[in-house]
Amino acid sequence: MGSQNMRWRIVRVSHKQPSRDDPTTGTPRSVLYSKEPVLENLRLCQIAPLEDLRHVKRVRKIMVEGEFRNALFVYVMKIIGSEVCGLFKRRMGGAMQTLADIISSTNTGFSSTHVRRHFLKKTLYHNEFSLPKFGVRYTSSRASRGLIYSQAGRESWDFSRFLKTLYFFNGPPSPSKFVDFLIAKLSSQTSSEQANIMENSGIVLVTGATGGVGRRVVDVLRKKGYPVRVLVRNEEKARKMLGPDIDMVIGDVTKESTLNPGYFKGVRKVINVISVIVGPKEGDTPDRAKYSQGIKFFEPEIKGDSPEMVEYIGMKNLINALKNSAGNRDGKLLFGFEGPLPEKLVWGALDDVVMGGVSESTFQINPTGNEYGGPVGLFKGVVSTANNGGFTSIRTRNLSVPEDLSAYDGLQLRLKGDGRHYKLIVRTSAEWDTVGYTASFDTVEGQWQTISIPFSSLRPIFRAKTVLDAPPFDASNIISLQLMYSKFEYDGKLNPTFTEGAFELPFSSIRAYIQEPITPRFVHVGSAGVTRPDRPGLDLSKQPPAVRLNKELDFILTFKLKGEDLIRESGIPYTIVRPCALTEEPAGADLIFDQGDNITGKISREEVARICVTALESPYALDKTFEVKSVVPFSEPYTVDPSNPPPEKDYDTYFKTLKDGITGKEALEEKPVPV
Ligand SMILES: NC(=O)c1ccc[n+]([C@@H]2O[C@H](COP(=O)([O-])OP(=O)(O)OC[C@H]3O[C@@H](n4cnc5c(N)ncnc54)[C@H](OP(=O)(O)O)[C@@H]3O)[C@@H](O)[C@H]2O)c1
Repeated sequence: MGSQNMRWRIVRVSHKQPSRDDPTTGTPRSVLYSKEPVLENLRLCQIAPLEDLRHVKRVRKIMVEGEFRNALFVYVMKIIGSEVCGLFKRRMGGAMQTLADIISSTNTGFSSTHVRRHFLKKTLYHNEFSLPKFGVRYTSSRASRGLIYSQAGRESWDFSRFLKTLYFFNGPPSPSKFVDFLIAKLSSQTSSEQANIMENSGIVLVTGATGGVGRRVVDVLRKKGYPVRVLVRNEEKARKMLGPDIDMVIGDVTKESTLNPGYFKGVRKVINVISVIVGPKEGDTPDRAKYSQGIKFFEPEIKGDSPEMVEYIGMKNLINALKNSAGNRDGKLLFGFEGPLPEKLVWGALDDVVMGGVSESTFQINPTGNEYGGPVGLFKGVVSTANNGGFTSIRTRNLSVPEDLSAYDGLQLRLKGDGRHYKLIVRTSAEWDTVGYTASFDTVEGQWQTISIPFSSLRPIFRAKTVLDAPPFDASNIISLQLMYSKFEYDGKLNPTFTEGAFELPFSSIRAYIQEPITPRFVHVGSAGVTRPDRPGLDLSKQPPAVRLNKELDFILTFKLKGEDLIRESGIPYTIVRPCALTEEPAGADLIFDQGDNITGKISREEVARICVTALESPYALDKTFEVKSVVPFSEPYTVDPSNPPPEKDYDTYFKTLKDGITGKEALEEKPVPV
């Protein structure tokens, strides 16, 4: 047997029946021949740690020598990590039997029958590869560590670099890992099954959906055709109010453990109308009729959880729970030297050595190579088409925890171009030999540039061919990235600007990005007055009850402001709507949008709900905090003719008037604002 460290086992099968066991490999005769005496049937039985099985063919071609044409070999990768590999065959029966015998003879603890049973259950690959005669130059385990010398006119192939590549990506040899892999592969789901369980995306989550504004938000969203999910505390109440078919999850924002991460899968946007419960001291009707009328009309008190728990701790919990699905307006850094990284990407070279070629690349860090003199990653190498090769690449090891980029629209690379045409390959499976979602891009020589690759432009490529029935790209499960410089495009096409020789691609960052124009992902209903309790020089007698009673109401507005601050600091694209006193009146009155937290008045809950839903799609509402009221004075009721309601407003005309960065907190540091 070869050394323990050897990862390949090459078993020679002579075209004549051997009279004794193979002396070099120690392989018993029974293994070599098992039940199939006809050598043609043993032609091909191969497990290879190769990304593209077409490459196996090339490796094999190189290794097949004319002088050995009549000798047939079974060529087995003995120990492979779980990220590999391909299995294919010419004649199923004989090849499988042989393979099963060999695996069981490597002390894996599995009997030949056991292994074979798994092979028979499923066909891993169909006969899509029509393979030529197959043989491997006979080589001892010692020789196989070095270069394999091949036909005249060819360059020597660096087998040890090949092994290093395999080791880097697949880890140390382990027979049990190999067998586990095979068994997992044989019992795994097909791609079409995976496609069927993909998450729905683009859901709008409404939190506080059983409240006065919240239930109207749900109604408006449904009428506009949004997929809606609600997070509520009381299932029975919610079903009664919102209908039995509502997509509902149960949680209490004050209790972090109740915010199951699964609730937020597929959620892209949130409208949050949760509020600490305020009610009349003397009690209310079951449907909170007194509260709905307005807190001006009763002596209020906090019911249940405190403002600190709901408005501040609850907000913290909610933001934590949904920040992955809502995303960050500045994107998410996957590779770079500034800012926190989710998990350090470990790059390794993956060149055409895996198919017998001689191209060679590396990943390096140049400490002063970026556009500002800081560090930069370097993909550099020499590409050659010798031995039918022609590609170099660097690929990351599989991430230990898949990266969820479902909140983002694509990947952006900051790099210094060299005029060449590269590929980015993104994998969503931990398997080695699997579909790579791929996009090509051009670079401009000598220029630092940002290359944006939308996820929608990635095409599923497997063995250099587009896979038409591949599952759609799943951005929630990113496992590895690869940068490639290749002579080959896809589907038989070639890289139009390919040249052999040395190249160098410095890249300073790879980040997931949200497509411009960015629209709000977190729309929050706060309250006018949140910055007023501590504002110097304010005439409290002219202020709404919540401002006057802030202390008695356990600092309700103070904590609402602290909650708002958490949103503004979260990085999630947001809109904060601060209504004045809420009414049950219809929508339709003319509106006043203001900033700086100075206005008083009233506004319909229905109108607030419509504003929130429109803000979801408006880049003008992005990262804005504003107050809103109707022009109708508090003392004057507002009614509409239900048979002829006013048309819905173009809220964008209001959003367009808003400025960034105004919250009313400015007034806390400045001189008194006249009210
Ligand atoms: N009333 C006014 O005049 C006025 C004026 C300006 C601003 N505002 C603000 O406008 C917003 C909307 O008001 P509204 O009248 O629609 O409020 P609301 O009817 O009191 O609704 C509050 C919602 O929050 C939910 N909630 C409370 N605590 C929760 C928790 N721990 N976890 C999950 N959900 C929780 C409630 O659920 P349950 O149904 O389970 O209780 C309810 O759905 C509030 O922020 C309010 O402060 C009100």
